[in-house]
Amino acid sequence: MIERLAACFQKHFGSNRPRFARAPGRVNLIGEHTDYNEGFVLPVAIDRYVTVAYAPNPDNLSRLCGYSVDFEQSRSAAYGKLGPVSSAPSWFDYAAGMAWALRQEKVALPGLDFVVSGNVPMGAGLSSSAALELAMARAFFDASGTPWDGRLAAKLGQRVENDYIGLKSGIMDQMASSLSECGAAMLLDCRDLSIESVPMPEELTVVVMDTGTRRELATSAYNQRRESCEAAVAAVRHQARSTRALRDVSVELLDAARSSMDETTYRRALHVIRENGRTLDMARSLGQGDIESLDVLMAESHESLRELYEVSSPELDRVVRSARRHPGCRGARMTGAGFGGCAVALVDREHESSFADELRASTAEIYKCEVVSGAEILESGSPS
Ligand code: GLA
Repeated sequence: MIERLAACFQKHFGSNRPRFARAPGRVNLIGEHTDYNEGFVLPVAIDRYVTVAYAPNPDNLSRLCGYSVDFEQSRSAAYGKLGPVSSAPSWFDYAAGMAWALRQEKVALPGLDFVVSGNVPMGAGLSSSAALELAMARAFFDASGTPWDGRLAAKLGQRVENDYIGLKSGIMDQMASSLSECGAAMLLDCRDLSIESVPMPEELTVVVMDTGTRRELATSAYNQRRESCEAAVAAVRHQARSTRALRDVSVELLDAARSSMDETTYRRALHVIRENGRTLDMARSLGQGDIESLDVLMAESHESLRELYEVSSPELDRVVRSARRHPGCRGARMTGAGFGGCAVALVDREHESSFADELRASTAEIYKCEVVSGAEILESGSPS
């Protein structure tokens, strides 16, 4: 990958010797649609990356100039002209959005040339866009001499999604891509962004099953889910004025406010409240090596996303059912925003190959994943 990017950089931008940064995709083990409700999530970063080669442009022009190996496309924009996108976003918009967000933070960016490539599948629920944002963030911090601040970079990545691209996403993907630890899941409190590192049990591997399905309307459906959660909070606030987010709401409190919300709003909120509890339980179980209890928690999460939050799909339901039938499977569920995309399974290491072989029959792609650390600079081509 590094050699290819270096050669491509040479071809497009001349003799300048680039530096390299990369950031991983993520798969969420549990805690779905809880992040924008100030709740808990439990993602792992996976060994699929977006990698960039970059260097300040030699003419010191105040602009961003990029080439995507995967799209075979060059794009450039003057920093002063950057602003939120109004049509379907392209790869370049995520990079340009990060420049825009950093400039809002008064970071003095040098003009930058970059070449980007990645192997995080796009639109699959594995956070290829967060990986691109965070790889660019590392590049920009490095090129501008700004000390790396992974939390700030994650917050800026979320700002890119929310205010530049127009997806009202939470902060899970960017935090996972930025600050994950090798071999550990990240229990993230999305209210104060505190992290507890939960080492993955040695005997388990993470397997991702990509259904190959992608939904066009995912962005608007996602934003609608978020609006339902806000409507539930507004209804609960009549009973309990200090309620800030669904994080603060118990099932009892939700039930007490049930008559002041519609049925759909109630069901969405019920999912979020229970999912927060499951996430804390799952972190505890993983931490204690209590592998027996994972299956029930993941199955309940999937069921709730299917029945209450209504973001699963027939393909996701089918692959989760097939996965759970395999004797080596310790738990499986859909992962990410939903509306198509991927499911995740935790599988006994000794059964990983037979699991992957069997599941290949019922899904488009299988990715056996290593649990890796977050965004990094690659010093002379290897992780620093
Ligand atoms: C997407 C968003 C995240 C999160 C998940 C659902 O990945 O980017 O912020 O809301 O969906 O859990």
